[in-house]
Amino acid sequence: AILKMMGSRPQLYDFHGVAMTHCVTDNWEKVKNFQARPDDILIATYPKAGQWNSVCNQVLQFVEHRCQELFYCPLFCLLCIGTTWVSYILDLLYFRHLSPERQTSIPVFERVPFLEIAVSSVVPGTELADQLPTSPRLIKTHLPIQLVPQSFWDQNCRMVYVARNAKDNMVSFYHFDRMNQVQPEPGEWSNYFQRFLDGQSFLLFLCCPVASVLYGSWYEHVGNWWNKTKTYPKLHYMFYEDIAEFYLQSRHLTLCFQDTEREIDKLCSFLGSSPSAEDKKTIVELVHFDNMKNNEMTNCSKRPFFDFSISPFMRKGKVGDWKTHFTVAQNEAFDEDYRSKMKDPTLRFRTEI
Ligand code: A3P
Repeated sequence: AILKMMGSRPQLYDFHGVAMTHCVTDNWEKVKNFQARPDDILIATYPKAGQWNSVCNQVLQFVEHRCQELFYCPLFCLLCIGTTWVSYILDLLYFRHLSPERQTSIPVFERVPFLEIAVSSVVPGTELADQLPTSPRLIKTHLPIQLVPQSFWDQNCRMVYVARNAKDNMVSFYHFDRMNQVQPEPGEWSNYFQRFLDGQSFLLFLCCPVASVLYGSWYEHVGNWWNKTKTYPKLHYMFYEDIAEFYLQSRHLTLCFQDTEREIDKLCSFLGSSPSAEDKKTIVELVHFDNMKNNEMTNCSKRPFFDFSISPFMRKGKVGDWKTHFTVAQNEAFDEDYRSKMKDPTLRFRTEI
């Protein structure tokens, strides 16, 4: 409220080659020297993350094919997750049975500390992590891979990265910047669009200090974390869209399929945990968009610096919402720019179904 009254939003500046604000760097000495433990699990994303992977594509192509045979219908998919989504899944996997009070009284952002946050109205992420009474500690970060504190690598910690297609990621991030009073002012959509594309090519950034968004280039973030999967087996790379549900609609019938459980199975296999079928069913239900949106512990309504009168935190959770924001010209510019930046054929994103 004070920041709002003063009309002051934090400014971006160059921090080790990445566009950052003081709200995520003020505690840097402690972040950098953070002592990870071997059983810590680091949840990493570019803010507002997600994507389709090839397995999902194959499943969908098969389903769509069958569906067209059966219903002559278009295929609509609603897909949604994010950092908060995966944080909550992991929290439920490990601590659902701990105490009912925990689920109803501690917001997920306190159960899963945001490592680098350094905002005066909340306890710094490093401190919150050090105070966690539970183990393994689940810790969230948006840091690009080169800024992850060394001790996470030294301790060989498990890490879960979540990516989301750039178009939807950009739209979600834009609305988040509007409502989050400790993010830089997003400005006009067309200007934001350009800054997201510019990301933070280092040289460009030096010449033009605001030609970016917080945490810098989406392209570098998702790409560098993806590359790390090739050498660091303790990194599980997930795609936002794979976890969510999708709908098949005909004129007379809507069928809803959920991939959440399949992705939770993969996550469990990575973590070496084996929840009962009943537990899994409950978790899938609890992490559904509507349930998380209506749950005060997961919808972030307790964050003092979020202004829900501007936009909700749990906004739409859709794949393809970018179509309501991008102009035809922006879409063409985006696609051309994307082709020039995303060269790795093994990292493929889908922006529509
Ligand atoms: P939208 O703005 O597109 O709605 P993060 O948690 O990384 O900040 O990401 C937030 C995005 O994830 C938002 O996207 C939010 O709605 C979506 N999200 C979070 N939990 C979700 C869930 N359980 N189901 C669907 N979408 C979810």
